[in-house]
Amino acid sequence: MTASQELVLGHADDWRIGFIGAGRLGQALAWSLSKAGLKVVAVHSLIQAHADAMTEPLQGCVAMSAQSVVDTCDVVFLTTPDSVISATCDRLVWRQGQAAVHCSGVTEVDVLAKALACGACIGGFHPMQTFGDPHAAVSSLPGCTITLEAQNPGLMQVLLELTQRLGCVANQLPAGMRGRYHAAAGYTSQFINAVFDQAVCLWQTWGASEEQALRALLPLAQGTLSSIERVGVARGMPGPVSRADLSSIEKHLRAISPMGQEMLHFYTTLCMRTVALAEQAGGIDETQATQFRALLQQAPGH
Ligand SMILES: NC(=O)c1ccc[n+]([C@@H]2O[C@H](COP(=O)([O-])OP(=O)(O)OC[C@H]3O[C@@H](n4cnc5c(N)ncnc54)[C@H](OP(=O)(O)O)[C@@H]3O)[C@@H](O)[C@H]2O)c1
Repeated sequence: MTASQELVLGHADDWRIGFIGAGRLGQALAWSLSKAGLKVVAVHSLIQAHADAMTEPLQGCVAMSAQSVVDTCDVVFLTTPDSVISATCDRLVWRQGQAAVHCSGVTEVDVLAKALACGACIGGFHPMQTFGDPHAAVSSLPGCTITLEAQNPGLMQVLLELTQRLGCVANQLPAGMRGRYHAAAGYTSQFINAVFDQAVCLWQTWGASEEQALRALLPLAQGTLSSIERVGVARGMPGPVSRADLSSIEKHLRAISPMGQEMLHFYTTLCMRTVALAEQAGGIDETQATQFRALLQQAPGH
């Protein structure tokens, strides 16, 4: 593997940006960069129709082979699924003076070793946002954090400029932290779904629909998020444990017990964590925390 040389690309408005992978993130990012006045000029995807659909709103952007994207562009985003980033990069011939960048949160940047060996710079550009609907994601991207990784200072400057043009906030990650970093993101993305699922299951036991449950639960969740934003994780925590209300938790445990071990175990595990937070926030003292822990440990699912 050879070290790449300093990347010197001139003015951002002149950078030729390309994408390999016309999926949810690729589309949203390409459209957002174009909206920010940057030149997205080339796209490749496995299915030609998908590449065409991505290029359609992009003036001057052409669908082409993956190698042609690399040959044409200064900055190439590999926006394939994580499992094929490395193989996709390996199949291509890269050159000095360009950058290969992936957008995965958990995949190490060294999967782009082939590009580095060819003299290109390699980096990571991971937007901390979900990209279900690419059109909606164009609106939700500004203000988000993008985690950047690049050993080459020239490429880091390029990634910082792209982040700034997107109206996003840059975050730089120490090497070797991607596993933890991505797991942390999971708590505030897909684990929210897991928690909502439990709440909706309880509503469904008295015949309410998921829609009815969400109508009631979403504003509650949004209130909690605002509270965290205002005063932090521990002090922003609502609920019976924060108020030292042991009897409410006893009632919850009795009500949830018939729902099965798995649900009870999940409840007691989460509740145990809230005891530590309430203690940290000063809402309960050590004796009260011990009482909560004893109650939760006695619950059958624990
Ligand atoms: N989605 C998110 O919320 C999100 C958030 C942050 C980061 N990311 C990261 O963004 C990257 C892309 O994720 P995604 O959600 O956009 O995936 P996706 O919607 O599944 O899209 C992946 C695209 O890659 C294309 N593709 C697959 N194999 C290919 C190959 N060998 N050569 C060229 N193109 C290929 C597919 O092409 P066809 O459509 O033509 O078959 C598809 O359009 C991943 O690294 C992921 O970790 C995603």
